[in-house]
Amino acid sequence: ISVTDFGAVGNSHQYDTTPIQSAINACPSPRPCHVVFPSPGTYLTKTIHLRSGVVLIVEKGAVILGGTKLEDYPKEFERWYVVLAEQVVNVGIRGGGEINGQGLEFVKRFDERKNVMVSWNHTGACLGDECRPRLVGFIGCTNVTVSNVKLNEPAYWCLHIVDCDNTSIHDMSIYGNFNSPNNDGIDIQDSNNTFITRCNIDTGDDAICPKTYNKPLYNLTATDSWIRTKSSAIKLGSASSFDFVHLLFDNITIFESHRGLGLQIRDGGNVKDITFSNINISTRYYDPSWWGRAEPIYITTCPRNSNTKEGSISDIQFINITSVSENGVFLSGSKGGIIRDLKFSNVDLTYKRWTSYDGGLVDYRPGCSGLVKHNMAGIIMEYIDGFEVRNMNMRWSEEKSVGWDNPLDFRPSTVNNISFVNFQSSLYKKNSLQDI
Ligand SMILES: *[C@@H]1O[C@H](CO)[C@@H](O)[C@H](O)[C@H]1NC(C)=O
Ligand SMILES: *[C@@H]1O[C@H](CO)[C@@H](O)[C@H](O)[C@H]1NC(C)=O
Ligand SMILES: *[C@@H]1O[C@H](CO)[C@@H](O)[C@H](O)[C@H]1NC(C)=O
Ligand SMILES: *[C@@H]1O[C@H](CO)[C@@H](O)[C@H](O)[C@H]1NC(C)=O
Ligand SMILES: *[C@@H]1O[C@H](CO)[C@@H](O)[C@H](O)[C@H]1NC(C)=O
Ligand SMILES: *[C@@H]1O[C@H](CO)[C@@H](O)[C@H](O)[C@H]1NC(C)=O
Ligand SMILES: *[C@@H]1O[C@H](CO)[C@@H](O)[C@H](O)[C@H]1NC(C)=O
Ligand SMILES: *[C@@H]1O[C@H](CO)[C@@H](O)[C@H](O)[C@H]1NC(C)=O
Ligand SMILES: *[C@@H]1O[C@H](CO)[C@@H](O)[C@H](O)[C@H]1NC(C)=O
Repeated sequence: ISVTDFGAVGNSHQYDTTPIQSAINACPSPRPCHVVFPSPGTYLTKTIHLRSGVVLIVEKGAVILGGTKLEDYPKEFERWYVVLAEQVVNVGIRGGGEINGQGLEFVKRFDERKNVMVSWNHTGACLGDECRPRLVGFIGCTNVTVSNVKLNEPAYWCLHIVDCDNTSIHDMSIYGNFNSPNNDGIDIQDSNNTFITRCNIDTGDDAICPKTYNKPLYNLTATDSWIRTKSSAIKLGSASSFDFVHLLFDNITIFESHRGLGLQIRDGGNVKDITFSNINISTRYYDPSWWGRAEPIYITTCPRNSNTKEGSISDIQFINITSVSENGVFLSGSKGGIIRDLKFSNVDLTYKRWTSYDGGLVDYRPGCSGLVKHNMAGIIMEYIDGFEVRNMNMRWSEEKSVGWDNPLDFRPSTVNNISFVNFQSSLYKKNSLQDI
């Protein structure tokens, strides 16, 4: 079924909402049905709702363009998406084309450090400065496939998977303005059996971000991808009220991001059985208004505030990791949220500075004690019981290691049962660093 058969014009300024929704509604749901957006064409629309069995085919050269007005979205903030699928099965989007949220239209003031964004909080639908529409959402769905489309310029989160089972996201290109806050790449919330592969994600905010608000999250796999972000490339949390179990991240390149692999657990959920393997990382400092302090690996479990519990972290492995970074690894459990059974093997860490931002801060945000002055070190450890390191190589720039105190920094009162086998730490000659 083609949206043009229902009168869509695709001229980028006339709304095609009614033709698009009529085409979707003409599908013999729940039987399989393709709704085609022909190329060329830029189809401006208010929120469109998928039905069971419907797959949107956005042809290469065609664009679904999200509206930028409040009245383009439903009343409830929970439904503010350009494309929304709710409580349906066997749905998807593909075809080689693009979905664009016109995120730049939501910038109130452009700023290299961080753009100031429009907020629709006067509606009371949502609060603070995070009150903007998301791009694509699947809520309470089974069997979702999103592949071969470009998701561009979301005004807020880009691809949001909520309370779903069996989701496949592959061969995607996701792009959000590098200076815009909250334009996360893929947020996977309260969902099971999610498979992400061959994605290119270049965003201001977190790129792949599993979260738990109302249910646990089981079985997430993300592989064969490339990421750049001004925040965390991979981040568990910070919304973390329920458990995260059995997650695998493999064969991923993380380029010049503010943080590489992060577990930012704040709300009492427990994290276990997580593997990060075959990952190359480079991290650097950006403006400190963005969370992240150039850590290639970051784990924290401090409670968000005095009303939240601490979650525990156990059975976490980092295998075959190389990084070049401006700051060290930060592993910080908490009194009630000890990090246990943590393993690093074949980990190669190169430390050098290349931006002029200040070092010497550890970052407990959000909440907790915020940004705290602390000497720089190769690995800072707090509240850990059971850490096994095998084959670790730390290399330090000869000239620029000023300000870095120790390869390993910990207090024996909170750190117990650690072992290092084949641990090397050495200076790197100036010239040999140039090609890193
Ligand atoms: C609404 O958002 C703006 C940012 O765009 C912020 O300055 C303001 O404090 C917010 N108001 C409320 C009530 O949250
Ligand atoms: C999901 O897809 C599989 C086949 O790929 C099918 O067997 C299963 O019934 C589908 N689930 C639902 C809820 O339709
Ligand atoms: C995911 O699996 C867990 C454990 O079986 C279950 O409690 C939860 O409801 C499941 N979530 C979904 C979205 O199916
Ligand atoms: C998930 O997908 C697999 C493989 O396509 C299928 O066998 C299974 O039935 C699906 N699960 C559900 C709950 O539909
Ligand atoms: C997680 O995946 C395993 C297979 O790898 C499966 O046995 C288990 O049922 C899945 N858990 C959930 C909650 O779907
Ligand atoms: C790793 O991912 C890249 C794509 O980013 C792919 O080209 C390559 O084949 C993958 N390597 C392996 C060993 O799967
Ligand atoms: C990481 O770098 C090594 C050495 O340059 C290379 O062999 C490997 O393929 C890279 N892996 C990824 C995921 O980029
Ligand atoms: C780690 O790298 C080694 C050498 O390249 C490889 O043999 C091994 O399979 C990798 N381990 C994992 C878990 O991918
Ligand atoms: C030390 O930690 C390892 C896992 O890292 C665990 O297998 C072992 O039982 C721990 N030993 C003690 C004495 O707690």
